[in-house]
Amino acid sequence: MISRNTIEKVFEAARVEEVIGEFVQLKKSGSNLKGLSPFSDEKSPSFMVSPVKQIWKDFSSGKGGNAVTFLMEHEHYSYPEAIKYLAKKYQIEIEETQQSQEQKEQANERESLYLVSEYAQSYYQDILFNSEEGKAIGLSYFKERGFTDATIKRFGLGYNLNNWDAFTKTALKNGYELDFLEKTGLTIVKEGGAKTFDRFKGRVLFPIHSMSGRVLGFGGRILTNDKKAAKYLNSPESDIYHKSKILYGIKHAKQSIAKEDNCYLVEGYTDVISMSQAGVENVVASSGTALTSDQIRLINRLTKNITILFDGDAAGIRASIRGIDLILEQGMNVKVLLFPEGEDPDSFAKSVTPEALKAHLAENTQDFINFKVSLLLEDAKNDPIKKAGLIRDIVVSISKIPDRIQQEVYIQECATIMHISENVLFNELAQLLKKNQRDDARKPIRQPSFEVIKEQPTQKVDIDELKKYELELLKILILYGNDTVDFIDFVASEEQTNEDSITLEKVKFTNTVAKEIYLQLHDDEIEFTDQKFQALYYEIITQINQQEKVDTDIFVQHENTVISNLVTDILMEDEKYSLSDWERKNIIVKDKKATLSKLVLDAIYNLRRVLIEKKINTLVSELSSAENSRPSLEEVVNYTQLKQLLYDRLQRVV
Ligand code: CTP
Ligand code: MN
Repeated sequence: MISRNTIEKVFEAARVEEVIGEFVQLKKSGSNLKGLSPFSDEKSPSFMVSPVKQIWKDFSSGKGGNAVTFLMEHEHYSYPEAIKYLAKKYQIEIEETQQSQEQKEQANERESLYLVSEYAQSYYQDILFNSEEGKAIGLSYFKERGFTDATIKRFGLGYNLNNWDAFTKTALKNGYELDFLEKTGLTIVKEGGAKTFDRFKGRVLFPIHSMSGRVLGFGGRILTNDKKAAKYLNSPESDIYHKSKILYGIKHAKQSIAKEDNCYLVEGYTDVISMSQAGVENVVASSGTALTSDQIRLINRLTKNITILFDGDAAGIRASIRGIDLILEQGMNVKVLLFPEGEDPDSFAKSVTPEALKAHLAENTQDFINFKVSLLLEDAKNDPIKKAGLIRDIVVSISKIPDRIQQEVYIQECATIMHISENVLFNELAQLLKKNQRDDARKPIRQPSFEVIKEQPTQKVDIDELKKYELELLKILILYGNDTVDFIDFVASEEQTNEDSITLEKVKFTNTVAKEIYLQLHDDEIEFTDQKFQALYYEIITQINQQEKVDTDIFVQHENTVISNLVTDILMEDEKYSLSDWERKNIIVKDKKATLSKLVLDAIYNLRRVLIEKKINTLVSELSSAENSRPSLEEVVNYTQLKQLLYDRLQRVV
């Protein structure tokens, strides 16, 4: 784990505007910076960065946060990955905690494997562009395939000389250790180290990157039409390269996948590159093997929608459709598209204009279940036994879909296509589901890997109003918590003259906003109904108890994104109006500070009032019940009086 100390140093050094500036073009706008949202396609900017508050907010998608959350959203980094990225950018050394010597060595070794691989990528690229052999053979091959220089550089493509050990020698000369060259598979070591060979020679190279952009391994394509030699030679499995866990192109596709909310899945390296060059950037390849659950999970982090592109003559379609059930199991929506006879995504992308490619994709995409039905129906034709098998097959696929409503829709559609009654399909499905349930019961229960914040179902009537005031109080705490205010309040007078009505007495006192809210809510043991709000409120009162004031930076940098998002939203709300002049002119932003006393007390009393109204409602309904434990009428009257008192106070607080 990265030490607290390192995380603090990173947050201290990182400037949100510098970090985001590398991905989004930002323009000054008052004390803020604004730009086009990187999370949606928009014409007028609604993305805003506040250098003063060190936060950002995207008003079109609602996302927002600090430098770290930006990297998590935009680059799809995990929290530690984002911290590491920033540490590198700001040259901060990373301290790890709770690491055994062995773990440290392992981490160092993995890092060394990454460094060797990154070096290899730059070496191969240098050979491609700058050596005679590279230009004459490698570069001209890529050019022949229609790849532009920009594309070649974007994907880090390269070439290695047709020589026994040119790469290995140079790498060793540059200080890279043979041990790591061997472990990444870049070098083959024979006779106990006496002989070393380059694994890839005379081949063009396709580096394979992780989601966060590190080089994991390579695919090397042969340039001759030698039928005996394998067309592609790939890096062997290593501590950093696990073929079944990575998708080719994910580094370059991730933003587009999230933005388009769809991922195209193709077979080969060249399919990815050609599609991407033609402007369809949300594309990854399974590299010619069946898709694994890990790979699907990778996509699932970015979108719920996959479109599988099949080659026109792929005999493999029938074999691969079974694997698609894995995708359905993860609750994803699967679509498929069949290219014309003899075409694959690479050749098709090059044979038409980018517009025609996009149009083709849009027009020919089919729903997977429908596709499977028509495909298998063709096989079964008039063979009733085959048809029965087909029905079972389809229902298996449908049973994998976690959403019941979606299952039902598919059953209805299939019934129509196959000319069969819905009941037959539903029966088959019910049986399968029962069987799946029995199987599941045998499986060990998997714990969810992250905490889900659930909203508790409470009485609906008051809940929205309650939440409104809860949020209002949090906003006040975040924005004005440390302000000292002269409060003017009205409290019930000690000497009550009349039994029916309560006399109010004016009082004045001074306190900070945060402490006053805390005191008042604490006395009444008030908790927030919204769990998110309660979580933040709890953090705030802990701070007030420990250091007597509210430190919003801590919340903005909070590892719990529920808290950091909530606080960012609050801090950015005012800035929203500076987005466009039109809005600024038409919205009068009240100077809240001038009326803080009233703002604070109103919020507290309103929250109490709603809580009391809720209490009265329950009491009244209990009163009319026949239970023995009915509340007394006095209790109801007491609460009603309390409510009246609050109304009075609310009216008179100035
Ligand atoms: N593949 C492989 N080893 C092979 C053949 C294929 O690893 N001997 C993988 C590669 O990842 C390849 C993918 O399967 O990209 C798809 O294979 P294919 O369609 O034959 O290759 P393309 O990438 O389309 O290459 P090209 O267009 O140059 O023939
Ligand atoms: Mn191909």
